[in-house]
Amino acid sequence: MKILHRKADIIDATKAWQSEGETVCLVPTMGNIHQGHLALISKARKSANRVVVSIYVNPAQFGTGEDFDSYPRTLNDDCAAIAAGGGCDAIYAPVSMYEAMHATSITPSGVALPMEGQLRPHFFTGVATVVFKLFVHIPADFAIFGEKDFQQLAVIRQMVKDLDINIHILAHPTIREADGLALSSRNYYLSTKERRLAPKIYKQMQETTALLKKGVEASIALKQAKEKLHSAGFDKIDYYDLRQLDDLQPCNRPTENSRVFTAIWLGSTRLIDNCAL
Ligand code: PAJ
Repeated sequence: MKILHRKADIIDATKAWQSEGETVCLVPTMGNIHQGHLALISKARKSANRVVVSIYVNPAQFGTGEDFDSYPRTLNDDCAAIAAGGGCDAIYAPVSMYEAMHATSITPSGVALPMEGQLRPHFFTGVATVVFKLFVHIPADFAIFGEKDFQQLAVIRQMVKDLDINIHILAHPTIREADGLALSSRNYYLSTKERRLAPKIYKQMQETTALLKKGVEASIALKQAKEKLHSAGFDKIDYYDLRQLDDLQPCNRPTENSRVFTAIWLGSTRLIDNCAL
């Protein structure tokens, strides 16, 4: 498993594999590798001859007052976890992705506008720009993203289509703890009490989807869910909606093409999740 830090080295490695007729799959991450990331890496190994995992905590996708400084940076442990999980061909861990005076960004519209786009206006510009740059550094055949960050996956698919990027995007379902909590690097911020409460998010989404499937009106099911979450002890709900998948706009009628999406606060930690019908 090569660990590369320089752009020129990862471009060379990727092109060398491709010139031998091998396919390459990129797994972009911000590190602090957990089973969710490892599941993506495993799928990548099945999808291509070579797998590159990028590890970079991207400052551009954090807003003022967000957790950029405290975000866990655990490169040595990450390399060990990836190796123990079956390995990859190269880990790309650039020191920085931005030159001094960097002044060009990609600002996605469309599916980037609602939900996270509304609450964290800097976020998808930061994500799209760094992922585009990663696609240049690793001109892979495939790149894989998790459905845990469903809107991010939609934004990347939209960018690839709109900008004619020749990389096929793969998706992986959300990996959860046994109690239903979606794995996330941000779960490490939770206190013991908050961690005990956190699985309620997924349980509530499952209850909501069951009610919707039974024909309960969306506005009623969603209102009831928010009330239950508040009384369970969740401080603030940024959104808890039913949305259609093509444009991520809210909808009232559940279909196979809709999901419940939430962003919710537990103390000072903000968690996001989604649940298919
Ligand atoms: P990060 O949060 O490290 O996530 C890296 C990838 O792992 C993303 O595609 C994310 O959706 C996926 N992932 C995280 N938790 C998961 C889980 N429980 N189940 C399945 N997949 C999961 O997302 C980012 O980093 C960054 O925004 C990035 C795309 C790397 C750009 O900086």
